[in-house]
Amino acid sequence: MLAELSPALIAEVELAAKLLTTRQHICILTGAGISAESGIPTFRDNQTGLWENYAVEDLATPEAFTRDPKLVWSWYQWRRQLVADKTPNPAHTALAQWQYHTQSSHQSLTLITQNVDDLHEQAGSTVTHLHGNLWRNRCSQCKTAYQDQSRGSYHSKDTINFDDTLMTCPHCDSYIRPDIVWFGEALPVHAWQTAEDAAANCEVFISIGTSSLVYPAAGLAQLAKQNGAKIIEINPNPTPNTIVNITLAEKAGVIMPLLIQKITAL
Ligand code: OAD
Repeated sequence: MLAELSPALIAEVELAAKLLTTRQHICILTGAGISAESGIPTFRDNQTGLWENYAVEDLATPEAFTRDPKLVWSWYQWRRQLVADKTPNPAHTALAQWQYHTQSSHQSLTLITQNVDDLHEQAGSTVTHLHGNLWRNRCSQCKTAYQDQSRGSYHSKDTINFDDTLMTCPHCDSYIRPDIVWFGEALPVHAWQTAEDAAANCEVFISIGTSSLVYPAAGLAQLAKQNGAKIIEINPNPTPNTIVNITLAEKAGVIMPLLIQKITAL
């Protein structure tokens, strides 16, 4: 793997590893790109199949759910089906190993994700979800939690009858929706507080696999920078994030195992 990387990129990984071993408080923000190598398409990838004519902004909003609840529910049923059999990739595993390693070191590592999949947890990480959880449901009006979806019922080979799946709340009879933060909605207060505290107090902020386009999550790197943190970005593609100190322009599944191997060896 090492041989496939350019000497310049390897030098940047070494620089990042040195920085990370000499700092105590680390905050990591992950986005859809970290799950891409597990086979879950990112939001900036073109949608495929049934959904190719829809932009994510046309489906992941409260207005879209009010207008056409079956359409939005169906999209999430499809996403659940897509994610059901996916497993963590080497980037998730390396992060979990690093988090485990920090338990017996002087470092504190806070992992925040915009992802609604549970691949960080499956890999063994403790993670704060900013945008909710794909497997949970709640009432669209009274917000009462409704029974979780079971991953086992969504095996990707099954066919879901999209039109018959709407459920209603036993308390107020409104439609049940996925417990996900949609565009225009507030982030969960406790999760956002955890993220803001970790970003404001970290010495290094690592942004992994996010386009840095969707706020408020995209503002966490700026908050960290304003408070003196160095910023590392891991993304094979450029982003609008102009405050980055070290750019590791490769897939997370390639960079993270190498980076963590170097950190834990130093
Ligand atoms: P995006 O889909 O906006 O961006 C994914 C990023 O991952 C892109 O910048 C890619 O270049 C990068 N990427 C792709 N493959 C990668 C790999 N193997 N390793 C590392 N990076 C890779 O995803 P997010 O930034 O997470 O919100 O999107 C933020 C929010 O916008 C999502 O949580 C979602 C979306 O709409 C809601 O659903 C509310």
